[in-house]
Amino acid sequence: MSDKQNPADQANTTDSFTLTDNSTGESWRLPSRVGAMGNRLIDIKALYGETGVLTYDPGFTSTASCKSSITFINGVEGVLLHRGYSIDELAAKSDFMETCYLLLYGELPTPEQKASFDADIRNHTLIHEQLARFYSGFMRSAHPMAIMVGVVGALSAFYHDSIDITDIEQRRLAAHRLIAKMPTIGACAFKYSLGLPFPTPRNELSYSENVLQMMFSNPAEDYKLNPVLVKAIDKILILHADHEQNASTSTVRLAGSSGANPYACIASGIASLWGPAHGGANEAVLKMLDEIGSADQIDKYVKKAQDKNDKFRLMGFGHRVYKNYDPRATVMRNTCHEVLKVLGINNPQLELAMKLEEMALKDAYFIDKKLYPNVDFYSGIILKAMGFPTSMFTVMFAIGRTVGWISHWKEMLVDDEQKIGRPRQLYMGETKRRYVPIDKRGHTEKKTSWSWLWKGK
Ligand code: SDX
Repeated sequence: MSDKQNPADQANTTDSFTLTDNSTGESWRLPSRVGAMGNRLIDIKALYGETGVLTYDPGFTSTASCKSSITFINGVEGVLLHRGYSIDELAAKSDFMETCYLLLYGELPTPEQKASFDADIRNHTLIHEQLARFYSGFMRSAHPMAIMVGVVGALSAFYHDSIDITDIEQRRLAAHRLIAKMPTIGACAFKYSLGLPFPTPRNELSYSENVLQMMFSNPAEDYKLNPVLVKAIDKILILHADHEQNASTSTVRLAGSSGANPYACIASGIASLWGPAHGGANEAVLKMLDEIGSADQIDKYVKKAQDKNDKFRLMGFGHRVYKNYDPRATVMRNTCHEVLKVLGINNPQLELAMKLEEMALKDAYFIDKKLYPNVDFYSGIILKAMGFPTSMFTVMFAIGRTVGWISHWKEMLVDDEQKIGRPRQLYMGETKRRYVPIDKRGHTEKKTSWSWLWKGK
């Protein structure tokens, strides 16, 4: 890697970068990597070993953590591909089960493969009766995402026959079980919050029909499925299925890199998704629209979002990768109009959201920072129109994203370059100092609160 390498490597100089330490004049050649599409990368795997130097990139704004063949985003052009197929095409022509197969196995299924995959998923939708008892430990007022983290994590205590992650069949079984059970677990969390009996999935229904039936059926009467809402749910799940190395997927990969139980890894992804900067944004968008209240307040809030001293942000706007319209937001907005039309709902929040989008996209600050609506901007409005409470929005995101998480978990396990994730740090703390016995230390006045502990350090 250093310039002292043998001349045979010299020929490869165009496919590399040179790093020079200006304090010593020493330089090293770093190989570059190119994928099937996307940015060139500097391969720094050997950097520390060769130079003793680390790289620093909080939030991984310029760092690729792995190689992957599942999803590709071109943030400049607003393109999202799953195994090469564009999200617009999948949302318009595929269904969620087929998209799950594509993400998991890399190709669109044949009719036989699709039928067998559908059937296998259906066979795993029930949850163990002992698992159902975990819900009773939660307050009825518990946030459904808190329940999801706990109950999905508890799955790791139930499936001792599918945690040999070196066995391909057991990896498949864990993947199918998780995809199958997430709607049941999420619907039970919803019903638990309402004090209603737990729902049961129906094998004669499709995956998305079961989602609606389990969430909204009433055991005292028949439930009538609305095909437009079924299609909308299916589309929402497709739009949330996967998105490269986002925070929750990276969390699942990092948890999985230690060889942890797959169900526990997915629970870690749910925990990360819950944050308002990530999957929790759909819930935060509705709260923001309620706070804005009316169109005449939009200008004030668009200005607030630009005030560095104000922590207010336009939720549902901006993205680490997209510096153009999030293609999922476009599909989501069209679906929103379809659903509200079918439901005959004149939704003031949708009107407000569209006005907000229109004004923000004309505002120099949002134009300069390339802040566009993301997938979370419209999803909450659809889900609310369908009858979901805001606290269930991120649960729906988690149901869709489970296939993405488990597909990346599977891919990580068979990647010959992957090892346990263990980032380094830039240490800013105290240098070595000697211990001082308490009777030799200074004194401070008695404090009634602990906040002073955190001041300045
Ligand atoms: C998802 O990663 C994924 O792929 C995620 C996701 C997926 O499918 O997995 O797409 C799902 O999480 C979508 C994002 C949902 N979150 C939100 O809508 C919350 C609001 N958005 C922001 O918090 C923010 O845009 C992020 C978190 C989405 C992205 O943050 P970055 O990439 O770290 O960018 P940043 O915070 O450094 O912002 C860059 C600048 C900053 O200004 P400066 O410091 O440069 O002056 O843009 C500003 C920010 O202040 N900015 C915003 C803003 N988002 C960024 N200003 C006002 N309102 C906003 N929404």
